[in-house]
Amino acid sequence: MPLAPAYDEPSSPPTHIAIIMDGNGRWATARGLPRFAGHQRGAEAVREVVEGCKHFGVRYLTLYAFSSENWKRPEAEVNDLMGLLRVYVKRELADLHKNDVRIRFIGKHDALPSDIQELIAGAEERTRDNTGLNLVIALNYGARNEIIDACRQLAEDVREGRLMPNEITEQTFASRLYTNGIPNPDLLIRTSGEQRLSNFLLWQSAYCELSFVDTLWPDFTQEHLAKAIADYQKRERRYGATSA
Ligand code: IPE
Ligand code: IPE
Ligand code: MG
Repeated sequence: MPLAPAYDEPSSPPTHIAIIMDGNGRWATARGLPRFAGHQRGAEAVREVVEGCKHFGVRYLTLYAFSSENWKRPEAEVNDLMGLLRVYVKRELADLHKNDVRIRFIGKHDALPSDIQELIAGAEERTRDNTGLNLVIALNYGARNEIIDACRQLAEDVREGRLMPNEITEQTFASRLYTNGIPNPDLLIRTSGEQRLSNFLLWQSAYCELSFVDTLWPDFTQEHLAKAIADYQKRERRYGATSA
Protein backbone atom coordinates (compact mmCIF):
# COMPACT_ATOMS: atom_id res chain seq x y z
CA MET A 1 0.00 0.00 0.00
CA PRO A 2 1.49 3.41 -0.87
CA LEU A 3 2.34 5.57 2.10
CA ALA A 4 -0.01 8.48 2.64
CA PRO A 5 1.74 11.80 2.01
CA ALA A 6 2.98 13.53 5.16
CA TYR A 7 1.14 16.69 4.22
CA ASP A 8 -1.83 17.80 2.15
CA GLU A 9 -0.81 18.42 -1.42
CA PRO A 10 -2.24 21.73 -2.61
CA SER A 11 -4.80 20.71 -5.21
CA SER A 12 -5.87 24.15 -6.33
CA PRO A 13 -3.91 25.87 -9.11
CA PRO A 14 -1.57 28.73 -8.19
CA THR A 15 -3.52 31.99 -7.86
CA HIS A 16 -0.67 33.96 -9.40
CA ILE A 17 1.93 32.76 -11.90
CA ALA A 18 4.86 35.01 -12.85
CA ILE A 19 6.99 34.18 -15.88
CA ILE A 20 10.46 35.27 -16.95
CA MET A 21 10.06 34.70 -20.68
CA ASP A 22 13.66 33.95 -21.65
CA GLY A 23 15.40 32.37 -24.64
CA ASN A 24 13.98 34.22 -27.66
CA GLY A 25 17.44 35.12 -28.95
CA ARG A 26 18.79 31.56 -28.63
CA TRP A 27 15.68 30.18 -30.31
CA ALA A 28 16.33 32.41 -33.34
CA THR A 29 20.10 31.87 -33.44
CA ALA A 30 19.63 28.08 -33.39
CA ARG A 31 17.59 28.46 -36.59
CA GLY A 32 19.94 30.90 -38.28
CA LEU A 33 17.32 33.66 -37.92
CA PRO A 34 17.69 37.23 -36.60
CA ARG A 35 16.85 37.72 -32.91
CA PHE A 36 13.76 39.63 -33.97
CA ALA A 37 12.24 36.38 -35.27
CA GLY A 38 12.62 34.90 -31.79
CA HIS A 39 10.91 37.87 -30.16
CA GLN A 40 8.12 37.62 -32.71
CA ARG A 41 7.55 33.93 -31.92
CA GLY A 42 7.80 34.80 -28.24
CA ALA A 43 4.80 37.11 -28.61
CA GLU A 44 2.83 34.17 -30.04
CA ALA A 45 3.72 32.08 -27.00
CA VAL A 46 2.20 34.82 -24.82
CA ARG A 47 -1.18 34.28 -26.45
CA GLU A 48 -0.92 30.54 -25.76
CA VAL A 49 -0.08 31.05 -22.08
CA VAL A 50 -2.83 33.61 -21.52
CA GLU A 51 -5.32 31.06 -22.91
CA GLY A 52 -3.79 28.36 -20.72
CA CYS A 53 -4.09 30.42 -17.56
CA LYS A 54 -7.77 31.03 -18.24
CA HIS A 55 -8.21 27.32 -18.86
CA PHE A 56 -6.41 26.23 -15.67
CA GLY A 57 -8.17 28.76 -13.44
CA VAL A 58 -5.12 30.94 -12.71
CA ARG A 59 -6.28 34.40 -11.56
CA TYR A 60 -3.12 36.47 -12.10
CA LEU A 61 -0.40 36.15 -14.74
CA THR A 62 2.61 38.47 -14.62
CA LEU A 63 4.93 38.46 -17.63
CA TYR A 64 8.42 39.96 -17.66
CA ALA A 65 8.49 41.69 -21.05
CA PHE A 66 11.35 44.20 -20.71
CA SER A 67 13.66 44.74 -17.75
CA SER A 68 15.20 47.99 -16.62
CA GLU A 69 18.53 46.41 -17.66
CA ASN A 70 17.37 45.52 -21.19
CA TRP A 71 18.24 49.09 -22.31
CA LYS A 72 21.82 47.77 -22.43
CA ARG A 73 20.92 45.89 -25.63
CA PRO A 74 21.63 47.35 -29.09
CA GLU A 75 19.25 50.18 -29.95
CA ALA A 76 17.84 48.23 -32.91
CA GLU A 77 16.81 45.33 -30.65
CA VAL A 78 15.24 47.69 -28.10
CA ASN A 79 13.27 49.29 -30.94
CA ASP A 80 12.19 45.86 -32.19
CA LEU A 81 10.93 44.92 -28.71
CA MET A 82 9.02 48.20 -28.33
CA GLY A 83 7.58 47.72 -31.82
CA LEU A 84 6.39 44.21 -30.99
CA LEU A 85 4.77 45.46 -27.81
CA ARG A 86 2.86 48.07 -29.84
CA VAL A 87 1.70 45.40 -32.28
CA TYR A 88 0.78 42.97 -29.50
CA VAL A 89 -1.29 45.44 -27.49
CA LYS A 90 -3.03 46.88 -30.55
CA ARG A 91 -3.78 43.44 -32.01
CA GLU A 92 -4.77 41.62 -28.81
CA LEU A 93 -6.57 44.30 -26.82
CA ALA A 94 -10.03 43.82 -28.35
CA ASP A 95 -9.82 40.04 -27.83
CA LEU A 96 -8.47 40.33 -24.30
CA HIS A 97 -11.26 42.75 -23.44
CA LYS A 98 -13.87 40.46 -25.00
CA ASN A 99 -12.48 37.63 -22.85
CA ASP A 100 -12.89 39.72 -19.69
CA VAL A 101 -9.10 40.04 -19.14
CA ARG A 102 -7.95 42.97 -17.04
CA ILE A 103 -4.57 44.23 -18.23
CA ARG A 104 -2.09 46.20 -16.12
CA PHE A 105 1.51 47.29 -16.62
CA ILE A 106 4.17 47.57 -13.92
CA GLY A 107 7.51 49.35 -14.23
CA LYS A 108 8.91 52.84 -14.74
CA HIS A 109 6.77 54.08 -17.57
CA ASP A 110 7.92 57.67 -17.86
CA ALA A 111 11.08 56.48 -19.67
CA LEU A 112 9.05 54.74 -22.41
CA PRO A 113 8.16 56.32 -25.78
CA SER A 114 5.12 58.55 -25.28
CA ASP A 115 2.88 56.62 -27.68
CA ILE A 116 3.55 53.45 -25.64
CA GLN A 117 2.67 55.30 -22.45
CA GLU A 118 -0.64 56.25 -24.06
CA LEU A 119 -1.23 52.72 -25.30
CA ILE A 120 -0.65 51.34 -21.81
CA ALA A 121 -2.95 53.88 -20.15
CA GLY A 122 -5.65 53.20 -22.75
CA ALA A 123 -5.44 49.41 -22.32
CA GLU A 124 -5.59 49.68 -18.52
CA GLU A 125 -8.52 52.08 -18.68
CA ARG A 126 -10.49 50.00 -21.19
CA THR A 127 -10.16 46.76 -19.23
CA ARG A 128 -10.24 48.10 -15.66
CA ASP A 129 -13.71 46.71 -14.83
CA ASN A 130 -13.03 43.25 -16.25
CA THR A 131 -13.18 40.45 -13.71
CA GLY A 132 -11.55 37.53 -15.57
CA LEU A 133 -7.81 36.83 -15.74
CA ASN A 134 -5.57 39.63 -14.43
CA LEU A 135 -2.74 40.04 -16.93
CA VAL A 136 0.18 42.07 -15.59
CA ILE A 137 2.96 43.06 -17.99
CA ALA A 138 6.29 44.11 -16.47
CA LEU A 139 7.71 46.69 -18.84
CA ASN A 140 10.85 48.67 -18.06
CA TYR A 141 10.55 46.87 -14.75
CA GLY A 142 13.30 46.42 -12.18
CA ALA A 143 12.64 45.22 -8.65
CA ARG A 144 15.42 47.34 -7.15
CA ASN A 145 13.98 50.48 -8.77
CA GLU A 146 10.58 49.51 -7.47
CA ILE A 147 11.88 49.10 -3.92
CA ILE A 148 13.77 52.41 -4.07
CA ASP A 149 10.64 54.18 -5.35
CA ALA A 150 8.63 52.73 -2.45
CA CYS A 151 11.30 53.93 0.03
CA ARG A 152 11.20 57.41 -1.44
CA GLN A 153 7.41 57.59 -1.10
CA LEU A 154 7.58 56.42 2.51
CA ALA A 155 10.36 58.89 3.32
CA GLU A 156 8.26 61.68 1.80
CA ASP A 157 5.22 60.62 3.87
CA VAL A 158 7.33 60.67 7.03
CA ARG A 159 8.84 64.07 6.18
CA GLU A 160 5.37 65.51 5.58
CA GLY A 161 4.13 64.06 8.88
CA ARG A 162 1.63 61.71 7.23
CA LEU A 163 3.32 58.59 8.59
CA MET A 164 5.35 57.69 11.68
CA PRO A 165 8.49 55.58 11.12
CA ASN A 166 7.06 52.83 13.33
CA GLU A 167 4.01 52.70 11.07
CA ILE A 168 6.18 51.34 8.26
CA THR A 169 5.18 47.69 8.09
CA GLU A 170 5.28 44.98 5.44
CA GLN A 171 1.77 46.09 4.48
CA THR A 172 2.50 49.82 4.16
CA PHE A 173 5.70 49.01 2.26
CA ALA A 174 3.95 46.62 -0.14
CA SER A 175 1.24 49.19 -0.78
CA ARG A 176 3.89 51.51 -2.29
CA LEU A 177 5.13 48.90 -4.75
CA TYR A 178 3.94 48.86 -8.38
CA THR A 179 2.10 45.64 -7.51
CA ASN A 180 -0.14 47.25 -4.89
CA GLY A 181 -3.40 45.28 -4.79
CA ILE A 182 -1.95 42.29 -6.66
CA PRO A 183 -1.31 39.15 -4.57
CA ASN A 184 2.25 37.80 -4.36
CA PRO A 185 3.14 35.21 -7.01
CA ASP A 186 2.74 31.57 -5.98
CA LEU A 187 4.73 30.11 -8.84
CA LEU A 188 7.55 31.74 -10.80
CA ILE A 189 8.59 30.06 -14.05
CA ARG A 190 11.77 30.91 -15.96
CA THR A 191 12.29 29.37 -19.37
CA SER A 192 15.54 28.71 -21.29
CA GLY A 193 17.43 26.92 -18.52
CA GLU A 194 18.79 30.06 -16.81
CA GLN A 195 18.39 29.90 -13.04
CA ARG A 196 18.30 33.47 -11.80
CA LEU A 197 15.74 36.18 -11.05
CA SER A 198 17.28 39.02 -13.10
CA ASN A 199 15.77 41.73 -10.88
CA PHE A 200 12.18 40.42 -11.12
CA LEU A 201 9.68 40.74 -8.24
CA LEU A 202 12.34 40.45 -5.53
CA TRP A 203 10.11 41.54 -2.65
CA GLN A 204 7.00 39.74 -3.91
CA SER A 205 8.68 36.35 -4.46
CA ALA A 206 9.90 35.91 -0.89
CA TYR A 207 7.91 32.66 -0.57
CA CYS A 208 7.23 31.91 -4.22
CA GLU A 209 7.80 28.41 -5.61
CA LEU A 210 10.39 28.45 -8.39
CA SER A 211 10.28 26.46 -11.60
CA PHE A 212 13.18 26.53 -14.05
CA VAL A 213 12.44 24.87 -17.36
CA ASP A 214 14.88 24.22 -20.22
CA THR A 215 12.38 25.02 -22.98
CA LEU A 216 13.09 28.27 -24.82
CA TRP A 217 10.24 30.78 -24.50
CA PRO A 218 9.03 30.62 -28.15
CA ASP A 219 8.59 26.84 -27.72
CA PHE A 220 6.66 27.14 -24.45
CA THR A 221 3.14 25.69 -24.80
CA GLN A 222 0.08 25.01 -22.67
CA GLU A 223 1.49 21.51 -22.04
CA HIS A 224 4.60 23.04 -20.43
CA LEU A 225 2.34 25.29 -18.38
CA ALA A 226 0.21 22.33 -17.30
CA LYS A 227 3.33 20.45 -16.22
CA ALA A 228 4.66 23.41 -14.20
CA ILE A 229 1.28 23.72 -12.47
CA ALA A 230 1.14 19.97 -11.75
CA ASP A 231 4.68 20.10 -10.26
CA TYR A 232 3.65 23.07 -8.14
CA GLN A 233 0.64 21.16 -6.85
CA LYS A 234 2.96 18.44 -5.53
CA ARG A 235 4.98 20.87 -3.45
CA GLU A 236 4.61 21.61 0.21
CA ARG A 237 4.62 25.30 1.05
CA ARG A 238 5.80 25.77 4.61
CA TYR A 239 6.43 29.52 5.04
CA GLY A 240 8.95 28.73 7.74
CA ALA A 241 6.69 26.43 9.77
CA THR A 242 7.20 22.72 10.37
CA SER A 243 5.71 20.13 8.05
CA ALA A 244 1.96 19.64 8.51
C1 IPE B 1 13.81 37.12 -23.65
O1 IPE B 1 14.65 36.53 -24.58
C2 IPE B 1 13.20 38.41 -24.16
C3 IPE B 1 13.68 39.61 -23.48
C4 IPE B 1 14.60 39.68 -22.57
C5 IPE B 1 13.03 40.85 -23.85
P1 IPE B 1 16.16 36.98 -24.76
O2 IPE B 1 16.21 38.04 -25.80
O3 IPE B 1 16.77 37.32 -23.47
O4 IPE B 1 16.79 35.65 -25.35
P2 IPE B 1 18.22 35.04 -25.02
O5 IPE B 1 18.33 34.92 -23.53
O6 IPE B 1 19.24 35.98 -25.59
O7 IPE B 1 18.21 33.70 -25.70
C1 IPE C 1 15.18 38.79 -18.13
O1 IPE C 1 15.85 38.18 -19.18
C2 IPE C 1 14.28 39.88 -18.64
C3 IPE C 1 13.14 39.46 -19.44
C4 IPE C 1 12.79 38.24 -19.73
C5 IPE C 1 12.31 40.53 -19.94
P1 IPE C 1 17.32 38.62 -19.62
O2 IPE C 1 17.67 37.72 -20.75
O3 IPE C 1 17.36 40.07 -19.86
O4 IPE C 1 18.17 38.30 -18.32
P2 IPE C 1 19.73 38.02 -18.11
O5 IPE C 1 20.46 39.14 -18.78
O6 IPE C 1 20.01 36.71 -18.78
O7 IPE C 1 19.91 37.95 -16.64
MG1 MG D 1 17.80 36.27 -22.08
